[in-house]
Amino acid sequence: MPKTIKKVGVLTSGGDSPGMNAAIRSVVRTCAYHNIECIGIYRGYQGMIEGDFKEMGPRSVNNIVNKGGTILKSARSLEFKTPEGRKKAHENLVKAGIDAFVVIGGDGSFTGGLLFNSEYNFPIMGIPGTIDNDIFGTSHTLGYDTALNTVVDCIDKIRDTASSHNRLFFVEVMGRDAGHIALNAGIGAGAEEILIPEEDLGLDRLLESLQKSKASGKSSSIVVIAEGDKIGKNVFELKDYVEANLPEYDVRVSVLGHMQRGGSPSCFDRVLASRLGVRAVESLLEGKSNYMVGLQNDKVTLTPLEQAIKGKSEIDRELLRVSEIMST
Ligand code: F6P
Repeated sequence: MPKTIKKVGVLTSGGDSPGMNAAIRSVVRTCAYHNIECIGIYRGYQGMIEGDFKEMGPRSVNNIVNKGGTILKSARSLEFKTPEGRKKAHENLVKAGIDAFVVIGGDGSFTGGLLFNSEYNFPIMGIPGTIDNDIFGTSHTLGYDTALNTVVDCIDKIRDTASSHNRLFFVEVMGRDAGHIALNAGIGAGAEEILIPEEDLGLDRLLESLQKSKASGKSSSIVVIAEGDKIGKNVFELKDYVEANLPEYDVRVSVLGHMQRGGSPSCFDRVLASRLGVRAVESLLEGKSNYMVGLQNDKVTLTPLEQAIKGKSEIDRELLRVSEIMST
């Protein structure tokens, strides 16, 4: 018989993403709805190790559905990677009477949670929160949609100055291991070329494509590059390389950086967060553990955490073709 859950902890872990607050709110209010207690765990697993907990009632999450970042703060805890760190975390959870927790984060956060569960048989649920959208078992992670809109908005602005000066812009977007942001925002913003970690375009093809676009009458161009792109050069080296080989181009670089992680979540992310939070808590109450709640074909689903961690969230290759056609 699974243990009856009377108190649920909630934490945000790893890189923050817009929609995390809406997910915290959803977890807290779903607990209140089912008359169970909810405890906020600050600074991810580090706060768990230090016992940085606070009781959260439904009114403690007023006016956060629209806020970026995470009111619980986030951290990438090295100490939680050690057995001693996890032992301390477990002692604190037991002392606070917490029976289960919901972790909102990416695959590193899920890996830590799963390891913790295997050592202490502690019920856990994961909610995918990262702008990178690189988690298997969900079509969307929290914050991805907002980040796409932020990037498109920025590139629209860059386009104004690019076309006024007949320049080529390299715009670097986030995505250490995944090209979802680059690919989708690139198409949305009308980029000439999109460089992503999953596909090595090669320097020659890039030069060729830029030459072709100049010859076809384009006076300015935008190339979107994921930070993890495997073309072998960072974005500034790429600028030098292109300028050396295609002197007709006047190149500028814009690294969008952490602005992509901030800002008010889109309506899509708020609704997603609300749906995932409800399902995460209700699944724990049903005695389930070690799952990630996600969205598949617009339905909220459960994927075993192990699969979510090991599986690869593939890019849609058709989008590469669409992008190529659009840049004709
Ligand atoms: O994992 C999300 C992400 O935004 C990546 O795209 C990026 O590489 C990384 O976080 C940056 O992490 P940090 O803020 O710790 O430097």
